[in-house]
Amino acid sequence: GKVAVLMGGRSAEREVSLMSGTGVLAALQSKGVDAHGFDPAERAMDDLRREGFARCFIALHGRLGEDGTVQGALELLGIPYTGPGVMASAVAMDKLMTKRIWLAEGLPTPVWRQVHSAAEAEAAFKALGSPMIVKPVREGSTLGLTKVTDAAQCAAAYALAAKQDPHVMCEQFVAGDEVTCPVLGTGAQARALPVIRIVAPEGNYDYQNKYFTDDTQYLVPSGLPEAEEAAIQALVLKAYLALDCRGWARADVMIDAATRKPYLLEINTSPGMTGHSLVPMSARATGMSYEDLCVSVLANAAL
Ligand code: DAL
Ligand code: MG
Repeated sequence: GKVAVLMGGRSAEREVSLMSGTGVLAALQSKGVDAHGFDPAERAMDDLRREGFARCFIALHGRLGEDGTVQGALELLGIPYTGPGVMASAVAMDKLMTKRIWLAEGLPTPVWRQVHSAAEAEAAFKALGSPMIVKPVREGSTLGLTKVTDAAQCAAAYALAAKQDPHVMCEQFVAGDEVTCPVLGTGAQARALPVIRIVAPEGNYDYQNKYFTDDTQYLVPSGLPEAEEAAIQALVLKAYLALDCRGWARADVMIDAATRKPYLLEINTSPGMTGHSLVPMSARATGMSYEDLCVSVLANAAL
């Protein structure tokens, strides 16, 4: 039946979603799928049922797309969709809720504080130490994020994050290797893909270096010792299952340079599928093309 590729949306990651969705749409069409683009920012969700769509590929990022709201609407419409369900999507969009669950499961994540003002951000800097990350709780693609190395930066960092989301968090910065690891599949079938190590210019893997420059290096194979790579894959799989993720997702991890201990930063339940994105690179390392990846994710669509 007809497949809708949901892309665009109303979040700050709209531009990224349009890049992801354009790629997914072309890939599915090249595999003979009767796929059509659908932007829920411009259309009523109910049109999906009226127009006879049998399944949805969610290529939306951020709030009102990746956060359980669109997933809930699709549940009501009875249309199977890719990726995690309502609860996992809602929890994963909120980095603090995610951390609480991971900690309860004994999974490591950097120390943090929620802050409600610039003064609280300064107090957090005193407590957590330098460098410290200030970021919106429910945002993606590094939007609104500042790495603070001086108390004088706290006010501006808080204001920048609060512009994206009234919920703002401070997090201890883990200095070391920045890695990411996708998971494909559901339940007992869920498998971690190869780890990618990211080497960004000056360690700054920001919005520009994520999507627009060609200066970021993506290492897959990661170059990490085999046992370390396996431990990260096992950790990410646990993190995925702890949130009851299904279909697919991608967790971002920092490895402390001094202790070699990995720390979970977050899990993305609608990972980027742009030309610069990470899940396709990791899949390719296992011999799975971008097109095959799209078909495989679609095959896992569920209600
Ligand atoms: N939030 C972006 C799309 C990602 O994690 O890939
Ligand atoms: Mg993210």
